[in-house]
Amino acid sequence: MDGVRDGARQQAAGGGGEAFDRLCSLVAAGGVAVVTGAGISTDSGIPDYRGPNGALRRHTPMTYQEFTDDPAARHRYWARSHAGWRRVARAEPNPGHRALARLEQDGLVTGVVTQNVDGLHQRAGSRRVIDLHGRLSRVLCRGCGDVSPRLELDQRLRAVNPGFHVGAAQTNPDGDVTLPDDMVAAFVMVGCRRCGGDELEPDVVFFGATVPRPRVAEALRLVEGARALLILGSSLTVMSGYRFVLRAAELDIPVAIVNQGPTRGDSRAAVRVDAPLGLLLPRLAAAVTPPSARSPVPLPAMRSLAFPGDYPREL
Ligand SMILES: NC(=O)c1ccc[n+]([C@@H]2O[C@H](COP(=O)([O-])OP(=O)(O)OC[C@H]3O[C@@H](n4cnc5c(N)ncnc54)[C@H](O)[C@@H]3O)[C@@H](O)[C@H]2O)c1
Ligand SMILES: [Zn+2]
Repeated sequence: MDGVRDGARQQAAGGGGEAFDRLCSLVAAGGVAVVTGAGISTDSGIPDYRGPNGALRRHTPMTYQEFTDDPAARHRYWARSHAGWRRVARAEPNPGHRALARLEQDGLVTGVVTQNVDGLHQRAGSRRVIDLHGRLSRVLCRGCGDVSPRLELDQRLRAVNPGFHVGAAQTNPDGDVTLPDDMVAAFVMVGCRRCGGDELEPDVVFFGATVPRPRVAEALRLVEGARALLILGSSLTVMSGYRFVLRAAELDIPVAIVNQGPTRGDSRAAVRVDAPLGLLLPRLAAAVTPPSARSPVPLPAMRSLAFPGDYPREL
């Protein structure tokens, strides 16, 4: 598609040069759907899986089948997650998240499909956000269908686990921490607040599990209606993110990728920039929307995905 596609991929460490200019042209034309991955949240202190310090190098996340089939695995999950959740809950949006929210307010970005479960796009002010893999801040009961804030569970867990301190252990991306067996054994889990059952689960798509179809359909609609697709901070190793690149390519929608390190979508990208998002996105937003051109009217929210009790300040 026009000059954007001709030049194939370009690298631009630090976000300068011709590739950055081409990225600016693409975004300045508007109608941009965005897909984000763990790389946009690393500057907020949440590690990714596959970057240079990625958590997959240290540990393999639990599968949904292990979680549901094995009560011991479920207990271990909640013990580790209880230890690690606060770090995710305390994380703040970084300049990359905020720049992206500004691009939406300025009418250039039509929405964000995120593979992250941290809720940082919403907290930065992004309005149309599809949480492809769910939200760590919500808890579901498979027994009775109750949906509750993670804060509520956290408070009950803290009450029955006084003195459960983890120190400076390494937190993994899904908000858990590797714990010694004796700490896992000493951890006390609580039941569902409504039915008392032991079928609580986090509202996230587990490693290797499938994303609910209506959510995929909503994300595909966003991408199919876009003028361009922008991928930010994802290795695209997981098919649930990569499928959007494939769909855009089918529809001849140009794809731009900003990521440090290679991605599975590189050969299909019209523009490829290798740069840190916390630096590049504020530069991009400043370049494409001078202050005088900013829309004074905030866009209406598509639908609120915020949940009472998200991200408590007191944590
Ligand atoms: N924050 C979160 O909620 C979170 C964090 C990690 C993983 N996850 C889950 O794990 C899966 C991981 O897939 P993925 O593709 O999102 O992540 P990934 O770990 O496979 O890829 C992240 C990519 O971002 C790059 N990167 C890291 N920091 C960057 C920065 N500051 N600027 C530019 N690039 C940077 C890395 O080099 C890597 O290539 C997802 O399905 C997601 O659900 C969620
Ligand atoms: Zn229940």
